Amino acid sequence: MLTILFAARPDRWDAYEAPLNRAIAATGLTDFRVVTKAAPEEVDYIVYAPNSDVQDFSIFPNLKAILNLWAGVETIVGNSTITVPLCRMVDTGLREGMREWVTGHVLRHHLGMDAQIKGTPGLWEPRIPPLARNRAVAILGLGELGTACAETLLALGFTVTGWSRSPKSIPGVNCFHGEDGLTECLATAEIVVLLLPNTPATENTLNARTLAAMPRGAFVINPGRGPLIDDDALLAALDDGQIAHATLDVFRVEPLPADHPYWHHPQVTVTPHIASETRPETAAEVIAENIRRSESGEPLLHLVDRSAGY
Ligand SMILES: NC(=O)c1ccc[n+]([C@@H]2O[C@H](COP(=O)([O-])OP(=O)(O)OC[C@H]3O[C@@H](n4cnc5c(N)ncnc54)[C@H](OP(=O)(O)O)[C@@H]3O)[C@@H](O)[C@H]2O)c1
Repeated sequence: MLTILFAARPDRWDAYEAPLNRAIAATGLTDFRVVTKAAPEEVDYIVYAPNSDVQDFSIFPNLKAILNLWAGVETIVGNSTITVPLCRMVDTGLREGMREWVTGHVLRHHLGMDAQIKGTPGLWEPRIPPLARNRAVAILGLGELGTACAETLLALGFTVTGWSRSPKSIPGVNCFHGEDGLTECLATAEIVVLLLPNTPATENTLNARTLAAMPRGAFVINPGRGPLIDDDALLAALDDGQIAHATLDVFRVEPLPADHPYWHHPQVTVTPHIASETRPETAAEVIAENIRRSESGEPLLHLVDRSAGY
């Protein structure tokens, strides 16, 4: 009997119990159980959220893989007790949610919606926005989520540039990579979307120098991770007008502390890490497929490269 330990916050079990059982049964596996408690030596797989109580994996002698429920793995990737494959979450629900959140916030800034939403009653002041084709959006991070957002923005007509670690070729997207590539990518970016993972190499990707490399009055949208931005440099760029507005979903400390200047800054929109959420129905299918693959000796999907940190 395969034992699959669900190690996440207790309130997640209600959402995942039925979808996981359904999805694993649908792969043809019959002799399995999904549980929230088991003797460590019985555990074959761990379905994992990094904020669970399980932090020491050395107690599971027969563990075959850890199947992460989150896309971001920065808080688990360095765990030295892990000796088995670690897979991250790539979920169609996560992808769709991120596409919607990013497109919504890009359109807000592109169309200048705040002028009407926060506008003065009685003030009739037509301001015609450019067409999307005349608006450059840069996406930093061209992985699962960045590519999905780039494709949606392209379909709306935006001029899209992108930046990744390795060279990429995405039809319609002007792709850059490496350190010089970042400055080139930012040089035309009126709206920048950060969808990089949090690794030592991506910390402070937006800093005083790179913010200054963007056109004056640009917008920053960060649904990636808080440490991608040097907060002091962003606040200075906002105060100076170099950056017109920042929409931030993720922060170095979450929840964002009550006294953080972002809360009250007139040119900052704070959203509480809601850009996109793993969806139990579709995520369960990804997990079930990886268990099936592992049991039949096939390569696992979405393996984390632990040396690269994502
Ligand atoms: N706010 C939310 O609700 C939420 C939800 C889900 C995910 N996220 C965040 O979104 C991030 C991206 O997710 P994903 O699934 O798209 O990840 P992914 O598929 O691993 O893509 C990461 C992208 O970042 C690039 N990258 C990594 N290190 C880099 C570096 N040093 N320089 C330049 N580019 C670099 C990668 O380049 P290569 O293509 O060359 O590897 C890749 O294109 C996650 O790590 C997570 O932090 C946030």
